[in-house]
Amino acid sequence: MAHIFVTGADGQLARALREVTGGWDFLSKADLDITSRGEVEDFFARTQPDVVINCAAFTDVDRAETEREAAVAVNCDGVRNLAQAAAKSRAAVIHISTDYVFGGDTMRPYIETDTPAPVNFYGHSKLAGERAFFESGCRGAVVRTSWLWSDDGTGFVAAIRRKAAREGEIRVVADQVGTPTEAHSLARGLVRMVGEGFGIVNLLANSEAGLFHFCDGPVMSRAEWARRIVADAGLDCRVAEVSSTEFPTPARRPAFSALDNSKYRGMYGE
Ligand SMILES: NC(=O)c1ccc[n+]([C@@H]2O[C@H](COP(=O)([O-])OP(=O)(O)OC[C@H]3O[C@@H](n4cnc5c(N)ncnc54)[C@H](OP(=O)(O)O)[C@@H]3O)[C@@H](O)[C@H]2O)c1
Repeated sequence: MAHIFVTGADGQLARALREVTGGWDFLSKADLDITSRGEVEDFFARTQPDVVINCAAFTDVDRAETEREAAVAVNCDGVRNLAQAAAKSRAAVIHISTDYVFGGDTMRPYIETDTPAPVNFYGHSKLAGERAFFESGCRGAVVRTSWLWSDDGTGFVAAIRRKAAREGEIRVVADQVGTPTEAHSLARGLVRMVGEGFGIVNLLANSEAGLFHFCDGPVMSRAEWARRIVADAGLDCRVAEVSSTEFPTPARRPAFSALDNSKYRGMYGE
């Protein structure tokens, strides 16, 4: 049986993976700090993994603007450490990346061959991580996802529910458009990639073959998403559409970052 490890075990995606998998091993930051090259090399030598799913990341988009070294250490150097160690062994890595590598300069969902142009430092650090991954020559894939959410009381969904339960009207930006992706849905998608595609994962080695977009869709603005969250929760609250300029944040967000997941669906199904 393949020996499969997941890094970043305490994060949103890894927690969902834990719920949908059996027999995989989960590594918290305390178990494996991916920024430590020595720890990563020692881990590969000791455990001889078949597949590592990298869910570890610096994901605070606003903090990344001011904590640039920390963001690069995890999102780029950490990915390089994993990928280079994997390249020297027989392991494959599936690394998770983001829609925020794109600049929002289109109105159709991004495909894998579109040119990235990040508008914030988080996006730059994640793009650098993708490039380090493909430069390493390791086997595996990069899976970009977007607007990840789960029903675990954290993130955008929980924030909207909390606010809508308290207030008769909430104001949500309408000029950020993307594709929400439920964490368990992505987790099941990754299981399909590893399960059905263990041989395929072993073959993928470059940015053309090994890059996938995964999202649930449909394409919607943050305000439209909020409206759905409010309706699904059975709350009586109006969602007023506002512009991002009304909610200034340290990091810019792309106006449009929806992903097209046709390539993934073509290879691995719905
Ligand atoms: N959340 C989204 O909306 C979204 C959208 C698109 C793509 N993504 C991508 O999806 C992936 C999973 O995101 P997520 O929402 O699950 O993120 P998350 O909840 O922030 O989890 C990331 C995990 O990585 C851990 N970590 C940080 N530095 C580490 C290190 N040096 N070594 C090992 N672990 C480390 C964090 O631990 P600490 O908390 O203790 O630092 C945290 O448990 C990431 O690659 C992210 O870029 C997320």
